[in-house]
Order: sequence, then C-alpha cells, then structure tokens
Amino acid sequence: MKSIAKLALGGVIAAGLVAGPTLAGDNMKTAKLASYKVVDDIAIPEPLAGKKGDPARGEKLFVARKKGNCLACHKVEQLKQHLFHGEIGPELSDVASNMTPAEMRLRLVDPKIVNPETIMPSFHKVKGLHRVMKKFKGKPVLSAQEIEDIIAFVQTLKMPKQAKK
Ligand code: HEC
Repeated sequence: MKSIAKLALGGVIAAGLVAGPTLAGDNMKTAKLASYKVVDDIAIPEPLAGKKGDPARGEKLFVARKKGNCLACHKVEQLKQHLFHGEIGPELSDVASNMTPAEMRLRLVDPKIVNPETIMPSFHKVKGLHRVMKKFKGKPVLSAQEIEDIIAFVQTLKMPKQAKK
C-alpha cells in the first residue's frame, strides 16, 4: 500500500519536471540547438549562445513567411507596409513596453513552458514537437542567432505614449 502511494507521488513529480530542466538537457545533446536556462518558467535571461542580436536582420526574419512568419498571427503597426497581419495572437506594436528581452526569448524558444495550451510555435526546439514538416525534422525553425536578431527587433516595438489607445 505504502509503495503504491510512493509510486503515484513519484509519477506526479516526474511529470512536473518534464517541461523544465530535462529540456535543457535534451537540447545540449543536439548540436544545432543552443543550451539555455529557463528561470521561473517565464524567462531565459542569457542570450542564446552568447550572441548579440541585430534588429535590421530581425525585422527581415520577423516578416519572412518561411522564417518567423510572425505576422501570420500578430498585428504590428510599425510593419503596416506588409499586407495580411493575423489576429490569432496579441498585437505586438507596443510589446517592448510590457515585456523584457528575457521573457521574449522564452516565448520564442519554447512558448509552451509559459502556456502549455498555446498555438504559438516553438522556434528553437526539436524535441516533443508534433506534426513537424519533414524538412524541419531535427532542426529548429530559427537558429540561436536568428532568435537573438528577432528579439533585438521586437525590443524596438514601442508606441509613442500619446498614440496609445
Ligand atoms: C501560429 C500563430 C503564431 C505565430 C506564427 C507566432 N505567434 Fe507569437 N503568439 C501567438 C499567440 C496565440 C500568443 C498569445 C499567448 C499564448 O498563447 O500563450 C502569442 C504571444 C506572443 C508574445 C507575447 C505577447 C504578450 O503580450 O504577451 C510575443 C512577444 C510573441 N508572441 C512573439 C512572436 C514572434 C516574434 C513570432 C515570430 C517569430 C511569433 N510570435 C509567431 C501566436 C503566434
């Protein structure tokens, strides 16, 4: 009786850990993935692989349909020269006023740690994904450098105070 109770408890603990530290372990074994440390389930404070982002490159990756394709789900006022902004995710025009780069990094690398139900893709992960297209198998959608470039761009997204609705 006692041992069954213990087993059940062990199961719960193991399940709780799956989304956390074990992922970092998996990633370290996969050459193309940068290792990283998730803090408090909301942020990755250190730049991936110590890389510095470039906002101009980040903007190109953000809009590129075969890279970030972020506009498919997010509206961005500053990018209105591009057509077709999706509304599945929240508008990002002022996101830098409300979010730190560390929080953005986790959102991009593995948003399911923040919200297990999210439909936002994990852009720097290869394990535990479903319905991955053949050409992306074993490769993250965005490299460590590309993630940092996009963060550098997203950090520029702030609306002037008086223009806020
Ligand atoms: C398939 C749709 C989809 C795509 C593509 C997508 N996102 Fe998201 N994103 C979402 C949804 C939905 C949320 C809302 C939060 C949640 O579900 O947890 C979100 C949340 C966010 C947030 C947090 C915003 C906030 O105010 O909390 C950021 C930042 C973000 N996305 C950035 C990006 C960037 C950058 C890209 C491109 C690399 C991207 N997203 C691509 C759907 C998407």
